[in-house]
Amino acid sequence: MQIDFKKLAQKYQTPYYVYDFDYITKQYEELKNAFKARKSLISYAVKANSNLSVVQHLAQQGAGADCVSIGEVKRALKVGIAKYKIIFSGVGKTDDEIRQALEFDILMINVESEAELKRVELIAEELDKEARISIRVNPNVDPKTHPYISTGLHENKFGVDINTAKRMYIMSKNSKNLDPIGIHCHIGSQLTDLEPIKESINIVANLVRNIKSALDIELKFFDVGGGLGIVYDNETLIDTYEYAQAVLDSLFGLDITVICEPGRFIVGNSGVFVTKVLYEKTNGDKRFVVVDGAMNDLLRPTLYDAYHKIEVLDKDSDQSKCNVVGPICESGDFFAKNIELPKTEHNDLMAIYSAGAYGFTMASNYNTRGRVAEIAIENNDDRLIRKRETFEDLIALEEEYLK
Ligand code: LLP
Repeated sequence: MQIDFKKLAQKYQTPYYVYDFDYITKQYEELKNAFKARKSLISYAVKANSNLSVVQHLAQQGAGADCVSIGEVKRALKVGIAKYKIIFSGVGKTDDEIRQALEFDILMINVESEAELKRVELIAEELDKEARISIRVNPNVDPKTHPYISTGLHENKFGVDINTAKRMYIMSKNSKNLDPIGIHCHIGSQLTDLEPIKESINIVANLVRNIKSALDIELKFFDVGGGLGIVYDNETLIDTYEYAQAVLDSLFGLDITVICEPGRFIVGNSGVFVTKVLYEKTNGDKRFVVVDGAMNDLLRPTLYDAYHKIEVLDKDSDQSKCNVVGPICESGDFFAKNIELPKTEHNDLMAIYSAGAYGFTMASNYNTRGRVAEIAIENNDDRLIRKRETFEDLIALEEEYLK
C-alpha cells in the first residue's frame, strides 16, 4: 500500500483514518476463494469497521453482514446487503431489536441463551411469523488469545453449552414460531493458532450430525464465526486455505452452507491512523512525544495493551526510547510505550498501522474531542467517507435542553 499521508494531511487535516479499499477487496476475495469448494457466505463483521462506505464496498463484492445490534443491521440494509445475507448475533438483544430483525426478515437471529429463545418465540408469535434462528454454541475451547477477546470458554458470557443447545433445538423444532436453520460458534478474535479452531469446529460439526440423527433436524447453515488474526507485529498467521480446509473436512458428509464472519482479517491492515506531533517533552529522563490523536480515537493500546507499529514520516535521525501519548487527561492515554523513535518536531506526521479494525468503531467523544475524519483510497484516488466531527455536532443533542 502506497499512500501519500502528507498530501492527505494537507487536504483533510489530522488526525485521520485512511483505508485502502483495494486491500479490503483482496482480503475478501482471498477468503471467498478459500471456501469456494462449497456453498459459502462471507458475512463481514460490521463491528470491526462500520463506516457506510466500507460496508457498501463489501456489499458490492457480494459480502453478507454479521451484526451485533439493530443499528448494524440497518447499516447493512442501507448500503444494499441482501437481507438473506444478514445475521444478527449478541448476548443481549432487546425486544425491540428482535422485533425489528423479524420485520426486516433477515437470514437468521443467532440466539445465545434459552431465555432469549423464549423471547424470540414470543415476539415471533405476536408478529405471526416463524423466526429463523441459529444457536451459538460455546464449545469450551481455549482460543489462546487476549482474555478480553476470547469468547469460547464457559467462563465467557457467550453462547450455550452443548446440552443446552440440544434442548433449544428441541424447543425450536416443537414451536410453530421458530425455524432452527443454523448453528454458530466463535471462540475469539485475533486467533493465530489453528488447533483451537479445529477443535471447536469438530465439536460443533459432531453436534450437527447428532442433531440430524437424534432430533431429525437438518441444519442449513454452519457459521464458523470470525477471528482470523492479522499481522500487527511479527505474528505467524493461520493460512486461509488450511483454515478453510479444516472447516470443510469437519463437515464431511453434511450438505450445509458455510458462513464465515471475519472482521479484522478483512479491514485490519487496510487502515492507518495518522496523527501529528504537537510537542516533545521529558519528565526526568523519560521522553514523551505528544501527538494530536488520543485514546478516544484509537483505544486498542490502552484497552488491550495492543501493539500497533508506529512510524514518524520522513525522519531518519538517531532513535531513542519514548512513549507516544495523546492530549487526554489520563495516564492510560498512550499509543505506545518505550518504543524507539527519531527526534520529532512540531507538525511531523506519525502513521499508526493496522488500525482499520476496531479503531474508529471504538472511538468516543471523551474530553469533547470530535471523532476524526475517515478517508478511502481506491484506484489511487482519495475521498472523504466521514467528515471530522465539529463542536456543533458534539453539542447538537444537548443544546436544546439548556435552561
Ligand atoms: N463474530 C462474532 C460473533 C464476534 O463476536 C466477532 C468479534 C466477530 C465475528 C469478528 O471477529 P474478528 O474476525 O474481527 O476477529 N475490539 C477487539 C475485538 C473484539 C471482537 C469482538 N467480536 C479488538 O480491538 O481487538
